[in-house]
Amino acid sequence: MKALQAGLRAALEFLSDLLEWAFGSRSNPLAQLGALGWFFFWIVAASGLYLYVFFDTGVTQAYASVESITHAQWWAGGILRSFHRYASDALIIVVLIHLLREFAYDRFHGPRAFGWITGMVALALAYVCGISGYWMVWDQLAQYIAVITSEWLDVLPIFAGSIARNFLHSGELSGRFFTLMVYIHIAVPLAMLAVMWLHIQRHAVSRINPARPLALATLGALLVLALVFPAVSQAPANLDIAPTRLGIDWFYLLTLPGVERWGGGPMWALLGGTAVVLATFPWLIRRRRPPVAVVHLDECNGCGRCVEDCPFTAVRLGPRSDGLSYEQEAVVDPDLCVSCGICVGACPTSTPFRRATALIPGIELPDHPLADMRAAILAASPALSGAERVIVFRCTQSAALAAPDPGVAVFDVPCVGEVPPSFVDFALSRGHADGVMLAGCREEACYQRLGGRWTEARVAGTRDPRLRERVPRERLAFSWAATTQRAVRLADLARFRARLHARAAAGGPTAPETARTVWRRNVRSLLALRWGAQIAWLAAFVAVAGFFSIAPAHQSLAPGEAEIKLSLAHPGQRRIACRELTPQELAKLPINMRRPVNCPRARWPVAVELWINGRRLLAGSYAPTGVWSDGPSVVYTRLEVPAGPLELRLRLRDTGRPEGFDYDQSFAVQLAPAQSLAIDFRPDNGGFVLHGATATGARP
Ligand code: HEM
Ligand code: SF4
Ligand code: SF4
Repeated sequence: MKALQAGLRAALEFLSDLLEWAFGSRSNPLAQLGALGWFFFWIVAASGLYLYVFFDTGVTQAYASVESITHAQWWAGGILRSFHRYASDALIIVVLIHLLREFAYDRFHGPRAFGWITGMVALALAYVCGISGYWMVWDQLAQYIAVITSEWLDVLPIFAGSIARNFLHSGELSGRFFTLMVYIHIAVPLAMLAVMWLHIQRHAVSRINPARPLALATLGALLVLALVFPAVSQAPANLDIAPTRLGIDWFYLLTLPGVERWGGGPMWALLGGTAVVLATFPWLIRRRRPPVAVVHLDECNGCGRCVEDCPFTAVRLGPRSDGLSYEQEAVVDPDLCVSCGICVGACPTSTPFRRATALIPGIELPDHPLADMRAAILAASPALSGAERVIVFRCTQSAALAAPDPGVAVFDVPCVGEVPPSFVDFALSRGHADGVMLAGCREEACYQRLGGRWTEARVAGTRDPRLRERVPRERLAFSWAATTQRAVRLADLARFRARLHARAAAGGPTAPETARTVWRRNVRSLLALRWGAQIAWLAAFVAVAGFFSIAPAHQSLAPGEAEIKLSLAHPGQRRIACRELTPQELAKLPINMRRPVNCPRARWPVAVELWINGRRLLAGSYAPTGVWSDGPSVVYTRLEVPAGPLELRLRLRDTGRPEGFDYDQSFAVQLAPAQSLAIDFRPDNGGFVLHGATATGARP
């Protein structure tokens, strides 16, 4: 599993390299997949609201209203319909990559299991929204979805074969069904929003909006897609004609051809199995959990900085428990702490300058004591040699850096945010190094969410604890590089040391860059090429969303084939006939149980056979439904048959007779290609009833 995760992580980092080059680190889409998920959700919600105003529920009105929205007002409704569809597809794309990324980065253990599970629920709800949305258009795709999804649901015991009967033939469908779909299509997104909100509840300062340039560029790309390749309906639904070749949205409907081919049961097993395995990942894949942060009460003054900086809301301020004169104290929730150490970097007591007392900060990671870090610096610095001695604090989730020569000492930390600014000050002002490098994950993609951001703010002096003014900033460097970017890290280090060298040679701070050199550098950064790359990426993204939302086409029914749906819900006769009780028998019963007729509930199973052109294609005995075996027996089957003349023979037994059938009927029908013939059983009408084809020579 570790190898799989490492491989995926390397692949995602490679992709991130390319995207970062094109979009810059602030707008790198791979670093804000969750935020993009939210963004697409809002686009879908807003465009959906508009469409809802013009949508009409009703068997024929639904299709007609969507057609009118698409064509009569293409400039508004049409474009918004495309936004609605393509943003839904884009949401699935980014969320699936988001899932893959969290898996690859091993971010689903311990406290993160909450995000993992709630994310899966949000994804499942997104699927319900998407599928119900396609259903509402009531075109041929909707008809296909309705039939296959209901066949799929009918496999579940709670539905017991009752849903697919609603889509037997055109006379069966009612407008109430669309009202139900509208209800689902509005209620489920609201539930999804609630789950998305829950999903980020354990995160401080969650990023739910993508960088503005990226958001605008994505909107622009969606608009272009909507104009070039507008979302349209397929032919109107007609339950008497089976869909043959369909444009299918593979992002949402991937499972349906599987249901068609292998049946509902195996697909439930596959989907349910995958969901269960994914949901149990946090417990299935075990990792040693590092010890969580601990508070040293003697040192904590309740200032609350750790609370503000913890990215996982794992620290809170509670009432003082030790009698010291401060009002509050930090309290760590071990169930939420991921041991990132960012709180340690935030605590004002994390200072290596103290001499009088041992270095014990208010909050600390037990397996990463700050006193050890200070001792390591003191031990390593005398051994550093050369003119540009550098101390590197490297986050273990970022690019590795074995000390390249005796002039560099590398200290590994769980997150660059764990390094208190006073340690940088200490290393430089006490002459332990000529320069300090803070080396974290890829910019804007901190493994621990906020470590990189807080570190930059502390150094810039905009967030407590600030790096003191006196620390010469040119002796400090950042290096943001993912695990795969070792070359970047080495180059950052080499550039930093060259800067230190130049500074030393100049005898003071290096001269600031002139406007001319900045301009030259910008030209060299190949702006035009980056713009081109951005456009190419966005075009590829919307092309993938647009293409797979309709292609490749799915052949549901082979050319030259027709379809027969046999569906009945018929109660077998009672096993024991009802009998009137005699007055004597009634008199023996308690007054409240005196019913004049005694009808034992149990019914016979119903046996059904379907023969086509002399071949028996269905033969079964169907048990009564219901807890007391007193409900109707339900039969549903959909068969593909060659179009043309067919001899049908239908037999049914609903009594306890040992052999033979109570109904035995033959029909001669002529089916056109793609025709859908529905067969129902109505004893009041003489037995089997055919819909959608005229039977010639029906013989009882
Ligand atoms: C509609 C779907 C989803 C949306 C809108 C969404 C959004 C987000 C957002 C905004 C964050 C916070 C990012 C940050 O500020 O650092 C996040 C984190 C997370 N998401 Fe999702 N997400 C979705 C689905 C999923 C799915 C399907 C999974 C995996 C099964 C998942 C797993 C996680 C995990 C584990 C984190 C926490 C990462 C950490 O603790 O560092 N999410 N998500
Ligand atoms: S170690 Fe990280 S998660 Fe734990 S309390 Fe500190 S900042 Fe929060
Ligand atoms: S930052 Fe330090 S001193 Fe302040 S509340 Fe947290 S542990 Fe206590």
